[in-house]
Amino acid sequence: MLKTHTCGELRAEHEGQEVTLAGWVHRRRDHGGLIFVDLRDREGITQVVFNPETSAEAHAVAGQVRTEYVLQLWGTVRRRPEGMDNPNMATGEIEVLATQARILNPAETPPFYINKEEEVDEALRLKYRYLDLRRRRMQRNIILRHKVVKFIRDFLDERGFVEIETPILIKSTPEGARDYLVPSRVNPGRFYALPQSPQQLKQLLMVAGFEKYFQIARCFRDEDLRADRQPEFTQLDIEMSFVEQEDVLRLTEELFISLVETLAAAESAGGLGLNKRLWRKPFPRLSYQEALERYGSDKPDLRFDMPLVDLTDLLAECEFRVFREVVGSGGQVKAICVSGCADYTRRQIDELADFVKQYGAKGLVWLALSAEGPRSPIAKFLSEGELAGIVTRTKAETGDLILFVADKPKVVAESLGSLRREMGQRLGLLDDSVLAFAWILDFPLLEWDEEEGRYNAVHHPFTSAVEEDWPLLETDPGRVRAKAYDIVCNGWEIGGGSIRIHQRDLQDRMFRALGLPPEQVQAQFGYMLEAFRYGAPPHGGIAPGIDRLVMLLADEPNIREVIAFPKTQSAVDLMTGAPSPVTEEQLAELHLRLADG
Ligand code: AMO
Ligand code: AMP
Repeated sequence: MLKTHTCGELRAEHEGQEVTLAGWVHRRRDHGGLIFVDLRDREGITQVVFNPETSAEAHAVAGQVRTEYVLQLWGTVRRRPEGMDNPNMATGEIEVLATQARILNPAETPPFYINKEEEVDEALRLKYRYLDLRRRRMQRNIILRHKVVKFIRDFLDERGFVEIETPILIKSTPEGARDYLVPSRVNPGRFYALPQSPQQLKQLLMVAGFEKYFQIARCFRDEDLRADRQPEFTQLDIEMSFVEQEDVLRLTEELFISLVETLAAAESAGGLGLNKRLWRKPFPRLSYQEALERYGSDKPDLRFDMPLVDLTDLLAECEFRVFREVVGSGGQVKAICVSGCADYTRRQIDELADFVKQYGAKGLVWLALSAEGPRSPIAKFLSEGELAGIVTRTKAETGDLILFVADKPKVVAESLGSLRREMGQRLGLLDDSVLAFAWILDFPLLEWDEEEGRYNAVHHPFTSAVEEDWPLLETDPGRVRAKAYDIVCNGWEIGGGSIRIHQRDLQDRMFRALGLPPEQVQAQFGYMLEAFRYGAPPHGGIAPGIDRLVMLLADEPNIREVIAFPKTQSAVDLMTGAPSPVTEEQLAELHLRLADG
C-alpha cells in the first residue's frame, strides 16, 4: 500500500508515529514559510504541515501542488499547537509534519469546486460525474447505499433467503411501462426485452422449489422520467412460497425497521449511518380507499395530518352554483383546513388556485376564519347551518384557512391531495428526521382503462384476489379487491407486491377479465401458464425500490443523487454520451434500418 493510514484515521493517540498518507489535495494554504495541505481520501481529511526547516525538499513539492493533485507523503503525527484544534474535523486534534512528499499525479483545474459544498449545475456534474462523486456528499450517499444493500443481503441471508440472478436479455416482462428492446444478430428480426422487473422469473423460481428468493435486481423501464424515476433502477426483489399476505408484510416491515434502527445506531456511534427515526411502528395500515379519501393519494405523506374533509352531502343543496352543480353531476366537494393561514392575501390565494389548476381543478374556493369573523367569496351563498357544518367537520379554529375544490373524485383527490402536501411543505410540517412508513392495502385488482376500453391490472396480471371476491371477476370486475400491498414513506411509493395467482384456471380467468386474446396470452406468457401445471406452490412477494429508499435515507430530493452514474430526465448519460449513433455496418449486422436518415 502507498499509505499506512487513511486520511480520516489519525487521532491524538497516534502522536509521534511515523505515517505515510496518500490522497488528493483538498486545499493548500501557503503562509509564506509554512505550507498547509489538507489531504483528502475517502475516509476523511488530514492537515499536513510542510516546514522548509523540517524538509526543504518536501516543502518544495508542496509548493508545486494544486487542488486535486494526487499526493503521497511521509511524516510524523503531532498534536496541533494549543488552541489550534479543529473540533469540526475528525482528525482535528492532530496534524502531520511532512518529511518527504511525492506527486503521484498532477491534476488540471476541475470544472467545479470539489472542496466546497455549493450548488453546481447538474449537467456539468453529470458530465464530470467522476469528479462530482469525489465530493463528500456524493461519497456519503454512495457508501450509504452500499451499507443499505449489505444490510439487506445479511438480513435476508440470516432468514434463509437465497440470492439468485436472473437474465437481463429476456422476453418482455411488462410492469406497465414500455420495454427497452435489444435486437438479436443471430436471430434476424427478433428482439430481447430488458426486464421491467424479474416478476415472472421470481415466480418460476418458486415453481422451481427455492421457497425464499431475493435479488438486488436491475430493472429497465422506458417511461417518462421524474425525480423518483430512472430508466434503469434497482429493486430489492423478494419472493416467498407457502406464505400469506401477512407474512410478506411482516418480513418487509422487520427489514425496514431493523435497517433504519441499525443505521441510526451506527450514526450515533459516529459511523456513517443516518439521523432518522421511525414515525410509528408497527407501520400504520390504510386501505387504498381510505388513503385516497383522506389524503387524496395512494402514497400519502403521513408526517402531518391535514386531511381532506368530505363536504359533498353538506353542500349538495347550497346556494353556490358551482358546488351544487358538481354534486348534482356525481362529483364531490372537499376541503382542507390550513392552520394559521386566515390572513393569506388575495395574491397568495390566487397562487394556490393556480397551483391546483395544474391538477385539473377548475378553481379554489377559500374561507378564512379571521378574528373578525368568517371571510369568503362564497360567504353570501352559505347558510348558517352550512357554515357551522363546514367549521365542525374541518375542525377549523379562528385563524385557519379552509380551501375547497369541487370536481370529479379523481380531480378532487389529485388537486387537493397535492395542495395538502404543498401546504405541509410551506408550513414546515415535513420533518426531515422522520420516516413515516405505512402500508397501503386492499387495492382494486383491476381498473377501467377509458382509452383502451378494457380493464387493466392495477399491479400486474399475476396478482391474486381476496378469496371471497373471485366470483365478482366476471360480474363486477372493478369491485374485486387484490391481495396487493404498497409500502410508502413520506409521500413516496417505496415498494409494491402481492400474493400471486398460482392456480392455472384462476390465471386464465384473470387474462380473460383483462380482455387479452388467448393467442396473445399464449405468445406472451405461455411458458408461465405451462409451469403452473406442474405443481406451483402458493407464493407472493414484494419489490422495494433501492434507489428511492436510499434517496429518502440520504435526504436527497432526487434518485439521481444516490446512483453513481445516472441518466438525465431525457434518459441521456452526459458522461459517456449514450445513447449514441451506431454505424451502418452495426445496423446491417443486426438486420436493422433506420426509418429516417
Ligand atoms: P413496481 O412496478 O411497483 O412492482 O415496482 C416496485 C418498486 O420499484 C421502484 N421503481 C422505480 N424506481 C426508480 N425508477 C423507476 N422507473 C421505477 N419504477 C419502479 C419503486 C416501486 O415501488 N414486480 C413488481 C413487484 C412485485 O409484485 O413483487 C414490481 O416491479 O420503488
Ligand atoms: P366562478 O363562478 O367561476 O367565477 O368561480 C367563483 C369562485 O369559485 C372562484 O374563486 C373559483 O376559483 C372558484 N371555483 C370555480 N370552480 C370551482 C371548483 N370546481 N372547485 C372549487 N372552486 C371553484
